[in-house]
Amino acid sequence: MKRESAGGVRGWRPATEEALYGPSGFYRRPEGPAGHFRTSVHASPLFAGAVARLLCLVDEALAHPAELAFVDMGAGRGELVTGVLKALPAEVASRARGYAVERAARPAGLDHRIEWLPAPPPDVTGLLFANEWLDNVPLDVAEVDAEGTARLVLVREDGTESLGEPVAGVETEWLARWWPLTDSPDSQLLFPDAPDDPLPLPDAPDDPLPPPEAPDGPLPAEDVPRPTEDLRPPAEGLQGPAEGLPVTTQGLRAEIGLPRDTAWAAAVASLGRGLAVAVDYAHFAGARPPFGTLTGFRDGRETAPVPDGSCDITAHVALDACALPGARLLSQREALGALGVSGERPSLALASTDPTAYVRALAGAGEAAELTARGGLGDFGWLLQPVGIPDPLPGGEQPST
Ligand SMILES: C[S@@+](CC[C@H](N)C(=O)[O-])C[C@H]1O[C@@H](n2cnc3c(N)ncnc32)[C@H](O)[C@@H]1O
Repeated sequence: MKRESAGGVRGWRPATEEALYGPSGFYRRPEGPAGHFRTSVHASPLFAGAVARLLCLVDEALAHPAELAFVDMGAGRGELVTGVLKALPAEVASRARGYAVERAARPAGLDHRIEWLPAPPPDVTGLLFANEWLDNVPLDVAEVDAEGTARLVLVREDGTESLGEPVAGVETEWLARWWPLTDSPDSQLLFPDAPDDPLPLPDAPDDPLPPPEAPDGPLPAEDVPRPTEDLRPPAEGLQGPAEGLPVTTQGLRAEIGLPRDTAWAAAVASLGRGLAVAVDYAHFAGARPPFGTLTGFRDGRETAPVPDGSCDITAHVALDACALPGARLLSQREALGALGVSGERPSLALASTDPTAYVRALAGAGEAAELTARGGLGDFGWLLQPVGIPDPLPGGEQPST
């Protein structure tokens, strides 16, 4: 299948690969991800504290091994692994070993006990945690043309798009299984004239995570975790259905998540025993975004995804497609709730007995509220994948795999 051609036109997967991880790629920049957007890790130390508690639950399920690994997958500048190691009780910390797995270079000043690796260490026992990693694993994008054929979307370095070859092979199979572009309930949402009896989605979970609810009030721009407004110009030649053709799906897009499924399976396979967790913007079968979610971020703002190394390029994750047998899905709100993080305000009585403690508790409640907010970080998906141990965290859904 033709993926690259003269003039710098190529599929989104190779274009993103170079734009993010090439020699002048976005993630090679010295300021790191935190210079451009906030993840849960940057939002509050409560997040690392909760992950440390999860590591302790994994430690219990493993019967307290002599060496307990914490693998921070897609570690950014190692902020999460640093925070988790600090938050552990002394006895667990004495057995813990921190690994940061990152494509970018090791930052100066990182605790020398943390190992900085280009790939997960093999056969370790403990917790592998991937916060906002999978959304940065490059993927191809498909779009339905005027004849109803799903084609690869090609992109130039300036971000302008055109349609290429029809999607083929394993990518067609992935689309049919996880993100059907034709005759799907998703297309009905957009095009009320679509057939009354669409093909059922294969094995969709009975009750996937609820769709995001609107936030209670507007959040300041810098507090909004990378949003999803589509800022891309329409692809060339896609101005509407060709005249006379009963096209109901033209312009629908899908992000072909196969490279993420493969990357996640490889990360899970690196664990000898323990728990692997992927946390990310997620969508699920039956409620895929009809035009996809590919977008860019720069300097704290959403921007058009231009693959020139100047911005992050990200797309939400089909987490149900990544799930391996035995996996469970929770929302971040549920997962953090089970780990003791809630946005409850401290009682006013504390203000009169211990004003300092009250102010501290109030600040903590504000941070917890951000981490668990509806319409924000609280709607992130947590994919839990136990390996050789019972699932240590209660709640959530069992996705079909
Ligand atoms: C959005 S940042 C998240 C950083 C951090 N986990 C956080 O939550 O703040 C994604 C990170 O994943 C890294 N990354 C992407 N693919 C990777 C891979 N295959 N192996 C290791 N790191 C990777 C990127 O370099 C980037 O630093």
